[in-house]
Amino acid sequence: MAVKRLSETLSRNLLDDIYRCSFKKQTGVSLKYMMDFGQSPTEKNLIVSAQFLHNELPVRLAHRVTELENLPYGLSSKAPVLTVRDWYVDSFRDLRHFPDIQDAADELKFTELIHEIKMRHNNVMPTMAMGIQQLKADLGRKVGLIELPEIHQFLDRFYLSRIGIRMLIGQHVALHHSDPPPGYIGLICTRVSPMEVAQNAIDDARSSCMRTYGSAPDVQVYGDPSFVFAYVPTHLHQMVFELVKNSLRAVQERYGDSEDECPPIRVVVADGLEDVTIKISDEGGGIPRSGLSKIWTYMYSTAKSPMAGYGHIEHTPSIMAGYGYGLPISRLYARYFGGDLQVISMEGYGTDAYLHLNRLGNVQEPLP
Ligand SMILES: Nc1ncnc2c1ncn2[C@@H]1O[C@H](COP(=O)(O)OP(=O)(O)O)[C@@H](O)[C@H]1O
Ligand SMILES: [Mg+2]
Repeated sequence: MAVKRLSETLSRNLLDDIYRCSFKKQTGVSLKYMMDFGQSPTEKNLIVSAQFLHNELPVRLAHRVTELENLPYGLSSKAPVLTVRDWYVDSFRDLRHFPDIQDAADELKFTELIHEIKMRHNNVMPTMAMGIQQLKADLGRKVGLIELPEIHQFLDRFYLSRIGIRMLIGQHVALHHSDPPPGYIGLICTRVSPMEVAQNAIDDARSSCMRTYGSAPDVQVYGDPSFVFAYVPTHLHQMVFELVKNSLRAVQERYGDSEDECPPIRVVVADGLEDVTIKISDEGGGIPRSGLSKIWTYMYSTAKSPMAGYGHIEHTPSIMAGYGYGLPISRLYARYFGGDLQVISMEGYGTDAYLHLNRLGNVQEPLP
């Protein structure tokens, strides 16, 4: 397939428009703002929100398009990367073609449009991963992404931006739900029990472990079950799920065949004034210090790559390990609302992951 640069396929007008928008500043919002704003999703508020998104989304998409066009090592011309770029261009065009939003009817149509855009981008992650995989194959086995810091940093920016775009769209769409569950403002739950979400994530991770290994180590959870705070439960679930899967795998692989009793994984939920911290500790043998920086790169995994056999990552969440996306993506989710993720290892013993979540929620979105 001949590689098509945007300048060969798009009209001059559209291309100019993309470049113009890619120079505009992106506007961030905070969890607190989304909560305050969404508290009363009146017709007027929904129109204001739609107008904001109508301006903001093209700017965010345009930033990504220009970046996708200018990646080093020939990554921009890999077929899967071109596919992703074209999704961004299509969504940009759709948004720019949408007329000014003036009344409730416009707002409803716009909500349908952004909902469709969100679905168009559902498979961005597996598709990008295929592009990266092809790049890795070109460069040979020896070169890890750690040695290609530009690519790694690009992916961090790209996926962080994607989390933000999907959050904004998801939040606006969810404000339309006529019968939100109690405590919910769009995707945000004002009374998330981290103990409860952690327990659900643990159950899911253990099921995945069972499917892969036929058994799963125990996981004990400590914390105040009545403690609640405002957060997006799906994000929290995702992060704990990934971290617990990693711990289960490490313990299972270390003790799976041995006679010794499997040491349990311990999850501690601490509610501070600034942060809610969730610590996940395992005795799975830890990570050698020389490997510690690699765990944050995309596609680094010590598990057998599930992509080798299938060529497609479609059912990522149900898979135990092997894409190498669990840690870097979880860290982006944490950072998106002002938190962070740290992994500390004692080689020969085990690993502690500290997931810090910002409790006040008034930190602005990071905008790469
Ligand atoms: N708790 C842990 N104990 C030992 N190694 C770990 C742990 N968590 C992560 N790792 C190492 O980090 C790598 C990357 O983890 P991750 O990003 O979740 O990708 P994946 O689980 O798909 O391999 C793992 O393959 C593993 O080598
Ligand atoms: Mg993992």
